[in-house]
Amino acid sequence: MKFFLDTANLEEIRQAVAWGLCDGVTTNPTLVVKEGREHKAQILEIAKMVTGPISVETITNDADEMVRQGVAYATWAPNVVIKVPMTPHGLQACRRLRERGIPVNVTLTFSANQALLAGKAGATFVSPFVGRLDDIGHDGMQVVRDAVQIVRNYGFETQVLASSLRHPLHVTTAALAGAHVATMPFKVLEQLFKHTLTDVGQERFLADAAKLQAELEKHKARV
Ligand code: E4P
Repeated sequence: MKFFLDTANLEEIRQAVAWGLCDGVTTNPTLVVKEGREHKAQILEIAKMVTGPISVETITNDADEMVRQGVAYATWAPNVVIKVPMTPHGLQACRRLRERGIPVNVTLTFSANQALLAGKAGATFVSPFVGRLDDIGHDGMQVVRDAVQIVRNYGFETQVLASSLRHPLHVTTAALAGAHVATMPFKVLEQLFKHTLTDVGQERFLADAAKLQAELEKHKARV
């Protein structure tokens, strides 16, 4: 499973890259605006750090304009992936961008049928939004499971990118569902490392090693 970081924050990306756990990045207007810098400038900074796919969202409802923006974004860095919304215009733009060889991430996907449409439109990635579905009392992960099954059934090259993940259990269930990619906030990535028994066990090992070292030094001093 590939791990993408769902952020436009450079420090978070730098840390995840250092851990070897940043296979790509997903951004959206909400994430970029938080960083207080112009869209293109921020993406160019991210592209200096990340060699994997960087999703950059188009900002329009119109297919022609999405294609225009997508073609422009694709010149920013060789690993830019164009995000289009799961709408008739978005899927039309997806098909046209794919015909030009530009990778596309179909975002704002909330149902299995929408994932099927993205597969048929030749999307590189389809992004079911798990957390936002959970928020309204649906089983968001079921859309991931269904999407994985659908792309398998028909041999679509589309990768299922489990999105809107809010906690470590979302990552586990997305992995069990066979999602090709999970994109997560930095906080969730950090949480994946955590287990109380790991912390307690490591503390004890270090304390015992220090005790042993002290014993050896005492013994050396005696002889
Ligand atoms: C990823 O591409 C999406 O933009 C993101 O996962 C949305 O997450 P949210 O529902 O937490 O905003």
